[in-house]
Amino acid sequence: MPTQSRKGRVSGLLPDFPWDTIAAVKQKAAAHPGGLVDLSVGTPVDPVDPLIRAALGSVASVPGYPTTHGTPELRSAAVAALARRFGVTGVDPAAVLPVLGTKELIAGLPRLLGVGSDDLVVIPEIAYPTYEVGVLLAGAKPWRADGLTQIGPQNPALIFVNSPSNPTGKVLPVEHLRKVVAFARERGAIVASDECYLGLTWEGEAVSILDPRVCDGDHTGLLAIHSLSKTSNLASYRAGFVAGDPELVAELLEVRKHSGMIVPFPIQAAMTAALSDDVHEAQQRERYRARREILRKALVEAGFRIDFSEAGLYLWVTRGEPCRVTLDRLAERGILAAPGDFYGPRSPEHVRIALTATDERIAEAAARLS
Ligand SMILES: Cc1ncc(COP(=O)(O)O)c(C=O)c1O
Repeated sequence: MPTQSRKGRVSGLLPDFPWDTIAAVKQKAAAHPGGLVDLSVGTPVDPVDPLIRAALGSVASVPGYPTTHGTPELRSAAVAALARRFGVTGVDPAAVLPVLGTKELIAGLPRLLGVGSDDLVVIPEIAYPTYEVGVLLAGAKPWRADGLTQIGPQNPALIFVNSPSNPTGKVLPVEHLRKVVAFARERGAIVASDECYLGLTWEGEAVSILDPRVCDGDHTGLLAIHSLSKTSNLASYRAGFVAGDPELVAELLEVRKHSGMIVPFPIQAAMTAALSDDVHEAQQRERYRARREILRKALVEAGFRIDFSEAGLYLWVTRGEPCRVTLDRLAERGILAAPGDFYGPRSPEHVRIALTATDERIAEAAARLS
């Protein structure tokens, strides 16, 4: 078959890459005399903690292949961190699997779990785009729903939940998650809970799907997905893990072993160090808390309404006008945000403002908003 006819065969199934659509507005913001304040992406800007760098370097001379399952030390560190930081108990270290950043896991998960063309996968109404991408790559059907009644009599194969949410910062209470678990068990669905921002909660409490108050200590059918990108500034290392139902994790391990989806050994060592230390993680949280306060105040004073945003690395704001208009107004002040339409059709009037900029850039944004 000529290569030409393969072009677009898979990428054609996927939505346009959203960031391409804000290139012009980015250019406009960058033309500001004080320079661009880029609050459109959630990429960390603070350096990786020395403790983590030392762990990475300490094994840099090791030449052999690492194991897909990760070292026992890494898996034990993940289990201990889940218990210490989030009160999650009863996770067997065998039911932990490191991944190359959680985006790759999310994009591949439906396929890895054998979800296919007859299957329905529930994703949040306003969602991190990779859930939909994963569903489309598996040839399955995405279904946007935040409430169980929106699913009706259908039997989904997989339900993605994301609390705290990107982009909205909304936190799902224990009661809501309990209902999701009960519903999934009744209908034979797997629940994949993306807990990327669980360690970054500002108001109230965010809980894991594996919290005993949510699942009564029974992890059957449940997967908790944890990224180290935000809480430990390790986006550049590509480091995350999935934990939960031992049978599901064993299945993922089996498939990933065959496909060579292995976290590099130095990264495994860095992850072990990061998961064993809460000091750097708390310091980072406090940096974001301070930035959030400055931006929150400036946005409210500038006439924005902030919705949800109790947790996570974003403020979900609106001026009651189309999001691209707001985006443009912000760009006039040299500030780049992410438009609500990146996250699906149900958020046409919001923009997402990231807290992931240096103190200097955050202060500059606040000054420009006033
Ligand atoms: C909700 C959510 N899940 C997962 C990820 C992926 O993170 P990573 O691939 O860096 O682990 C992100 C990154 O922004 C995110 O916002």
